[in-house]
Parts: sequence; C-alpha cells; structure tokens
Amino acid sequence: MPKVYKFIAVGLGHISDHWLPLFSSEGQARIFNDAKRVEIAALVDPDRTTWAKGKQYGLDAPCFVQLEDAYKEVEADVVLVLTPPQYHARYVWEAIQNLNHVLTEKPFITETNDLKHMIGLFETIKEENLLCVVNQQYRWAPRIQAVRKAIDDGKIGQVGFVVSYFNEADYHFNLWWRQLHGDISAFNWFVHHYDTMRYILKNRKPVEVYAKLIRVPYSKIVGESTVFLNVTFEDGIEWTYNGSQEGRGWNTPGQSMFTIHGSDGMIENPRDGPPVLYKAKDEKGEALMPDPGDSHAPYPDYWHVTLRKFVESLDANKPVDEDVTTFENNMSTIVIPLAARESHRQKRRVNVQEFLASL
Ligand SMILES: NC(=O)c1ccc[n+]([C@@H]2O[C@H](COP(=O)([O-])OP(=O)(O)OC[C@H]3O[C@@H](n4cnc5c(N)ncnc54)[C@H](O)[C@@H]3O)[C@@H](O)[C@H]2O)c1
Repeated sequence: MPKVYKFIAVGLGHISDHWLPLFSSEGQARIFNDAKRVEIAALVDPDRTTWAKGKQYGLDAPCFVQLEDAYKEVEADVVLVLTPPQYHARYVWEAIQNLNHVLTEKPFITETNDLKHMIGLFETIKEENLLCVVNQQYRWAPRIQAVRKAIDDGKIGQVGFVVSYFNEADYHFNLWWRQLHGDISAFNWFVHHYDTMRYILKNRKPVEVYAKLIRVPYSKIVGESTVFLNVTFEDGIEWTYNGSQEGRGWNTPGQSMFTIHGSDGMIENPRDGPPVLYKAKDEKGEALMPDPGDSHAPYPDYWHVTLRKFVESLDANKPVDEDVTTFENNMSTIVIPLAARESHRQKRRVNVQEFLASL
C-alpha cells in the first residue's frame, strides 16, 4: 500500500477553501487515480468560527488554536501553511524544528531577515531530507505552460527581453494583513508574476534588480502598491515589469499581460484570449492554443498540481522535476521583491549575489 501522508493545515481562511477539498475522498480520487495518499491530521486556526470547515469538506480532524497544541496531540508528516503571509516564516520554522516536511502558500517569507534565517535552515532541511515547497500554482496554468513550451521549442529563437504589465484596479485590501505591510502587494500578488516569469524563462535566476516603489497619493494602505521594476536574468535577458493594485479602470488578467521578444519572433499574453506567437514582421500572429477562457478568472485553480507533485516528490525522496518550487528554487523568486526594496532604498541597481552575501 502506498504511504498516506498526514498533514496539519494551519490557517483556515479564504485560501483553505481551495486546499481542503483536495483532501476529501473525491478530491484525492481525481488527483491520485483513486488512491488515498493524503490525510488531514489536524486543523489549526485561532479563529474558532473557521473550525466548521473540517466537517464542511468531509474531513474528520481535531482542531487547535495553535500549531504547538496540535503537535502535542497528533503525529504528522507535513505542515500546510495557509496563514496570512506575515506568519509563514514562523510556522515554517516550527515545522522544520519538528522534522516535518512543509508545503506553504506563497510567499514563504516577508522580511529580508527571514530570508537570512531560512537560508540557515537549508542545512537542516538537507540533513533531514525534508521537502519544503512553496505553492506557485500560476506555473501550472495551461497558457503559461504553452508559452514556456513555445520558447523551449525555439519558436522565437534566442530570448532578448520581456515587457509585463499588471493592473489590478482598485484592489480591496481588506483585513489587517493586506493593509499593514509595506511590501504586501509585492509579496501577496506581484510574486505570482515574478515566479511565473522565472518559470517561463526555465527557472533562470535574477542577476540584477532595479526598482522604484510607488505609493500613489490616493493609496489606501501603508507602503507601496505600485512598482516600476527592471530585472536582468541569467543570460542577459532583460525584464521590465509595471505592477499596480491601485491603478483605476480595467483589470489585466491575474496572470498579467506581457510580450516576450526573441531573435525570431515575439509571444504575447494579451488582455483577452490565448497567448499568441508572432514571427518576425508578422502582424496577425498565430494562437499558441485554443482560448483557455481564464483571462479574467480570479485565480488559476491548479493547487491540485502542486499537491500531486509534492506527494510524488515525497515518494521519490527528491523533487520530481526542476520546476517543483522548493525553498532553494523559490529563493530566486522571493529575492526579487527583497532586492527591489533595497534598490528603491539605495536608489541604485542591486546585484543579487552581493545582496544575498550581505545578509
Ligand atoms: N496561491 C494563490 O493564488 C493565493 C491566493 C490567495 C491567497 N494566497 C495566500 O494564502 C495565504 C492566506 O490567505 P487568505 O486569503 O486565505 O487569508 P485569510 O485572511 O482569508 O485567512 C487567513 C487565516 O489564517 C488565520 N490566522 C491568522 N493568524 C493565524 C495564526 N497566527 N495561526 C494560525 N492561523 C492564523 C486567520 O484566522 C484566517 O482564518 C496568504 O499567504 C496568501 O498570500 C494564495
């Protein structure tokens, strides 16, 4: 019989409604070909009104106010972190100290010091052979996969530069944790685009970051909710990204709009419709796939892909492919908003290696 991995889920808010159904018998049947591979051993949230969710999703698990209490009562293999971002580093740390594997919602940290501490944990993670993964499910959306494949297949030749635009007009910023962190737009939203761009560029690492962070005069929050960002990736690929959650007017797709320019052509992820390939001097272009119809979906619903790859990686005792966003992989994503903050502060380009070495 294949092993059934026991999970403690911490944080039972909005996003748990995407995760918990995956642990129901119907959810698992879909993901694991009718096998039972995962189980919720405990649910944790200080807000007891959320505890009803276990029953709602057919999960029979005890509920606790804090993770420490759950550890006293239940045996677990994995901690699934779904709390507000500001608590992720704390629960990741606690899980690793208890020699549990970790699956956390993005972002896995929200402070530069947390990154320093996390890098310190990499030795333990390695020694104990723990699998620590950040969910970045935008990677698994078919349109993003189609773009990556077209580039891998050489459809636009050698990639030169990329231009991206994201406008989430007049974002709600409800609840304290979306209002009180200076970089919340970057950690909660732009990080999807930072990671997706790395994925499209075959997990290339950022080499240099240059950013201006902008707090519009009519901002609703503490901190900056708009960014003008330049990243130089490995192989000299240049990226310019403009993201905002306090622009007005229409929304871009959650996956952002972008054009990727290569020696032989260009790929566009437009506001509506499928991604399109344009060969040199081609004005009309050719769709890379039928319209997946997800341009204005709130989130690409691919949590199940992250969970499947996570379980397959646990079985294999190592990540099943280079696209699994282990902490080491995701460090090259999360360093982008951190280096952007540093670049803004110092009003200069930041070399990512030097920045990491300075921690
Ligand atoms: N992958 C995606 O597309 C996606 C989309 C939305 C949110 N998220 C991420 O999911 C995470 C949660 O977001 P959300 O929208 O569910 O937030 P939320 O505010 O709806 O829910 C957070 C839950 O955590 C609980 N909580 C607060 N403090 C806690 C603590 N110390 N210990 C345990 N639980 C605590 C709250 O009571 C609440 O039930 C965030 O990191 C967010 O970035 C990811």
